[in-house]
Amino acid sequence: MVLTQYVVDFNQSVQQPDLQDRRKTVDKMANIKRICAPSMRGQLQFDEIGYWSEIKLEIQKEYAAAYSTILAAQKNPSLHHVYIDAFAGSGIHLTKVAQEFVLGSPLNALRVQPPFREYHLVDIRPEKVESLKALIGPRKDVIVYQGDCNKILLDTIAPRVKYKDYRRGLCILDPYGLDLNWTVIYNAGQMKTLDIFLNFPVADMNRNVLWRNPANVEDTQKERMNSFWGDDSWHGAAYRTDLNFFNEPEKQSNEDIAEAFRKRLKEVARFARVPKPVPMRNSRGAIVYYLFFASQKDTAEHIVLDIFKKYENRGAR
Ligand SMILES: C[S@@+](CC[C@H](N)C(=O)[O-])C[C@H]1O[C@@H](n2cnc3c(N)ncnc32)[C@H](O)[C@@H]1O
Repeated sequence: MVLTQYVVDFNQSVQQPDLQDRRKTVDKMANIKRICAPSMRGQLQFDEIGYWSEIKLEIQKEYAAAYSTILAAQKNPSLHHVYIDAFAGSGIHLTKVAQEFVLGSPLNALRVQPPFREYHLVDIRPEKVESLKALIGPRKDVIVYQGDCNKILLDTIAPRVKYKDYRRGLCILDPYGLDLNWTVIYNAGQMKTLDIFLNFPVADMNRNVLWRNPANVEDTQKERMNSFWGDDSWHGAAYRTDLNFFNEPEKQSNEDIAEAFRKRLKEVARFARVPKPVPMRNSRGAIVYYLFFASQKDTAEHIVLDIFKKYENRGAR
């Protein structure tokens, strides 16, 4: 892939002191943008990702490799295994501190060996979709969709991953915030064919919904939370019923709220295995989101727990 060379080249230019000339770096960045989104010059802004998002990418990459190896080896019946990235992004990101390029989740998945049989990649932003298409090039096994994944997953992708058709899939649900609808998560559990990684956006929840005084929260924000959670039962998980010294219901911890959601993934969506999620932090150590994994299979849980263990004790950077 031509781009891989550009990325290596760019990262070297950042690392090598004799090439650390700002103009050269800017030229190289412009080149990469041109490759990513040829007809949308200037509109594509790469996401800058922190240390924990790099860890998330590593975790998903490791699990995808193990998953694909196991599923590809399955015989009698053999299974057709697909990769689904519902919030796929532009395909590459810049690291916040080093300002180096890293491959995003869909490009990591495309490098997994043995390969998945199909890849379904969705993003709502046209310039990100164009970037992804330009990076991947024409491939019969990859479908890139532009639009709202909440609709595309249910209407177009889910019918291609039916249990009775011996299809199985790994689905990455990685929104920035409360942009994912519970119907998608619920449906993924009912299908019994999908393993999911799910970004539980606790920072967005705390910023906009889970305030100390819930009476001040806007209705539109409560609606966003209802859509993600599936109903308004989050209120019971997030606040105690008795009032505190300030006459407000005491807010529960992030961990308690994540635990209530874990229970929902098991009891309502009906995923058989939902290990405790990994908290993902910012550079000050605050939790930005929890990375959940859910599956129907014990083996899947064991594999992911081994991977989680490797990463969860890493400190913030
Ligand atoms: C956190 S980024 C995804 C990063 C990507 N998973 C990775 O690790 O490389 C979230 C992406 O979701 C996209 N997005 C937001 N709302 C969406 C929606 N309703 N449907 C599909 N994509 C959406 C954004 O444009 C953004 O590119």
